[in-house]
Amino acid sequence: MDQIIIRGGNRLSGRVPISGAKNAALTLLPCALLSDQPLTLRNLPRLADVEGFGHLLNELGVSTKLERGRAEEPGRVITLNAADIASTVAPYEMVRKMRASIVVLGPLLARAGEATVSLPGGCAIGNRPIDFHLKALEALGATIELAAGYVKATAPKGGLVGGRVVLPFPSVGATENALMAAALAKGESVIENAAREPEIIDLCHCLIAMGSMIDGIGSDRIAIQGRSALNGAEYRVMPDRIEAGSYACAAAITGGELTLVGARAADLHAVIESFAEAGVAITETNEGLDVKANGKLRPLTISTAPYPAFPTDMQAQFMAMLCLADGASVLTETIFENRYMHVPELGRMGADIQVRGRTAVVRGVDRLVGAEVMATDLRASMSLVLAGLAAEGETRVHRVYHLDRGYERLEEKLSAVGADIERRSEG
Ligand code: EPZ
Repeated sequence: MDQIIIRGGNRLSGRVPISGAKNAALTLLPCALLSDQPLTLRNLPRLADVEGFGHLLNELGVSTKLERGRAEEPGRVITLNAADIASTVAPYEMVRKMRASIVVLGPLLARAGEATVSLPGGCAIGNRPIDFHLKALEALGATIELAAGYVKATAPKGGLVGGRVVLPFPSVGATENALMAAALAKGESVIENAAREPEIIDLCHCLIAMGSMIDGIGSDRIAIQGRSALNGAEYRVMPDRIEAGSYACAAAITGGELTLVGARAADLHAVIESFAEAGVAITETNEGLDVKANGKLRPLTISTAPYPAFPTDMQAQFMAMLCLADGASVLTETIFENRYMHVPELGRMGADIQVRGRTAVVRGVDRLVGAEVMATDLRASMSLVLAGLAAEGETRVHRVYHLDRGYERLEEKLSAVGADIERRSEG
């Protein structure tokens, strides 16, 4: 295992290239299962989760070939080919490492008529059930069996049948599974109370490139015409809005100024509004987003909620930044039941945070002090790195494999804009 060592206090300044979005890549990769023609994805980020998903697809018989990217395009280009589905089972030892694997269920079921996927189980931030996913597939005619820690979905003899999916909550993963299953169902399907995240829009655009017809993209009611087969396509993954927001926090917490190359303001309206309220100016240019901290940060009251509201994936990073604000902030986490594991670690660095249930009160302090801290989940890890960038002295973040799941070349990107940061093996 590695650790990251940060000597804080440097004001960051310069350009940060924003990579392809992890949470878009993890729903675009399984689209390959929907066709016997090749799907080429461009601008894929070099992340552990993306690698892991590729291995899972290989297990199912999907070939994945790394292509030479264009000079001007830093992301990876991979061509996936699912001409022959060799297996319809996503095994426990692969799914337990990456719960996002659950979104192979819908496309595999739609293409092969059955799919058996290990139940993903919970993770550090919550127990993360998949009941909405299963109800959605049943609405398309699937039969669902749960046994020995696996879910087995079976389509009717003639294949899935278009239907009306009503999600009790705008679940991102359930919307993704429903969309990909419906893409090959007979007739039209309508998904009510669909998630509206930009990654869902990216998925819809990729499905359209593969021959789907979809209405209501970006809304909470999506209608998709099922096809008997989808074509191959070439599609470029959207930029990572959470990575961009995280580096904007790095500029804010160090009183610096960064250009986030490739970031899109349209994906981050609620976050940009919160930054503005805190006194951090974010302007869109033809290169991406310019972020400039203007003096002491102002405290905020934030409640996470489904898109287009403030995203839960930015809560931990904002909390780190608000530890140094001029007053008390109130953060309420409404999406996951246990997404405050960064709090005790920030406390070790001198932060003043009180958690009661889903609400955290963050009282601004004059300074944070570097300490040994432990990463517990992806976004919590980033909040510790952010705190370390502003803290006096040295911060050592342990178990940084959490970071590698969602932040490509983190130390490299931060060093390039003035951070004193290095990665060292724990060994
Ligand atoms: C996606 O997770 C993202 N992951 C998460 O990002 C993100 O935090 C989340 O959406 C919310 O935006 C990927 O895209 C790979 P949900 P997902 O289904 O699909 C409950 C990160 O840091 N729920 O929208 O699992 C669930 O427990 C990760 O990049 C059910 O009860 O999120 C949660 O409380 C973390 N039953 C809420 O809904 C279900 O069947 C939202 O979950 C499904 C979900």
